[in-house]
Amino acid sequence: MTIQDYLDEAQALERELDERLQQIEPATRIDVVKGQLRDWRARLDQLQKSITTVPPDARRDAGIALNRVRSGFEDAMAQREAAATGSGAQVAADLTMPARERWRGGRHPVTLVIREIREIFRELGFTVALGPEAETEWYNFGALNFPPDHPAMDAHDTLYLGPGSLLRTHTSPVQVRTMQRWAPPIRILAPGNVYRRDFFDPSHAPMFSQIEGLSVDEGVSFVDLKATLTNFARRFFGTARTRFRPSYFPFTEPSAEMDAQCGVCGGSGCPTCKGTGWIEILGSGMVHPAVLESAGIDSERYTGWAFGMGPGRIAMSRYGIPDIRLLYDSDVRFLEQLAR
Ligand code: PHE
Repeated sequence: MTIQDYLDEAQALERELDERLQQIEPATRIDVVKGQLRDWRARLDQLQKSITTVPPDARRDAGIALNRVRSGFEDAMAQREAAATGSGAQVAADLTMPARERWRGGRHPVTLVIREIREIFRELGFTVALGPEAETEWYNFGALNFPPDHPAMDAHDTLYLGPGSLLRTHTSPVQVRTMQRWAPPIRILAPGNVYRRDFFDPSHAPMFSQIEGLSVDEGVSFVDLKATLTNFARRFFGTARTRFRPSYFPFTEPSAEMDAQCGVCGGSGCPTCKGTGWIEILGSGMVHPAVLESAGIDSERYTGWAFGMGPGRIAMSRYGIPDIRLLYDSDVRFLEQLAR
């Protein structure tokens, strides 16, 4: 190779490098730039090797030209690198940076429990029914066979909105509304918020969720109640034990409460279960004939059973939550640990 050819090739490489760099965005990452110039680098390496083919007395000039091309390349790369990582605007173009995780929200633990319960009862043929939170005295008490002087109707226990209207104290009014509207067979689940004049303390809240269940048909008996609720408890709590205790509600006869073994202590006794080892899960019973009649259903022909449970209590026992206020005072630092 003549020295002239050598110098020409060196100059051609320099010119080409300038042109090619002008085509590449300044913010492009340096390894990407180098990748795009790989063929150019191959020609530079080739030029270096062919220095041995230049006549010995011209090699010094050839070497100077070669070094100029190489350091031109290195300087350009260093400049590029500084530009690509230097200013804030260009840092933003780093497409390899992992994205920031975005909080997309989640379901409240009580909502999760309601959904799960709804799913279990859906398989048994129960449909969801809803009723108003602002109710009349008649739906909340009268139609449910509360005697006129029953202590639960005391203004101290109920949040009245005006004469004869109040915030419902339970979801049982939905039983009456459903029976008025639809003929048996009836199988409904009614989740919703209820209100009581209670202080906010570890085991009470002035507003909380309930789920009502109602089944009305010909020939329905207490066996259906017990079998269905036991099946539910087995599905929902897995191996936890349950028990039925006789109880009293004006709108059911006979009445029973179902307890499940405390999920916090496993039955040995703790503050959540007040040392008893059991958590009250629901109240239930056979629908009182007077309730069927007040909703216009023939109590000689039809019978039914009903229950009301507190998904908040159930969430507390399931997740080991010691204080009901944690569920209702909306502290996301707590809620996001359970939200799904
Ligand atoms: N409504 C009752 C309560 O709030 C629960 C209940 C519902 C009991 C249905 C029996 C049948 O305590």
